[in-house]
Amino acid sequence: MTLMRAIHVLNGPNLNLLGQREPEIYGSDTLEDIAQRLAERAAPTGCEILLRQTNYEGELVEFIQTARTDAVGVIINPAAYTHTSVAVHDSLRTLTVPIIELHLSNPHAREAFRHHSYVSPVATGIIAGFGANGYELALDAMLAIINPG
Ligand code: DQA
Repeated sequence: MTLMRAIHVLNGPNLNLLGQREPEIYGSDTLEDIAQRLAERAAPTGCEILLRQTNYEGELVEFIQTARTDAVGVIINPAAYTHTSVAVHDSLRTLTVPIIELHLSNPHAREAFRHHSYVSPVATGIIAGFGANGYELALDAMLAIINPG
C-alpha cells in the first residue's frame, strides 16, 4: 500500500453552513463543493486532501494535533476561533509542517473584532478575501511549498 501525502484542510465553526450562511459574504459554494474541487486538483500531485469541519474549539485542537503526525501541510480556516482562540494558536505552534491561514472574506475589511488573528503569528502565509477560490489558491500555495522547484 502506498501512503499518500495528506494535506489537511481544517474548518471551524459555522463553515458547515457555507452556501446558506450570508452568501453575500461567503458565496454560494458548499464545503462539499470545495472538498470535491480540492480532491480533483490534488489528485495528479500525489497528495490527498483530508477536509474536516467542526463547530467545537476542542475538536479543532484535536484535528490540529492529528496533523502533527498525519499531514504534510495544514490549510486552516479557523472561522470565529481565529479571533478568540489561544488554544488553536498553541496547538498550531506545535506543528512543524507549513500552515496556511485562510478566510473566504477579508476580515480586515470587516468589523474591528475580526482584525486580530491568533493564527497569523504562527502561519506560514495568509490567503483572504477571494471567496471559495481561496481554498484552491491555498492548495496551490501549499503544493509550491511542499514540492519546491
Ligand atoms: C471567516 C472570517 C471570520 O471572521 C468569521 O468568523 C468566519 C469566516 C472567513 O472565512 O471569511 O466564520 O474565517
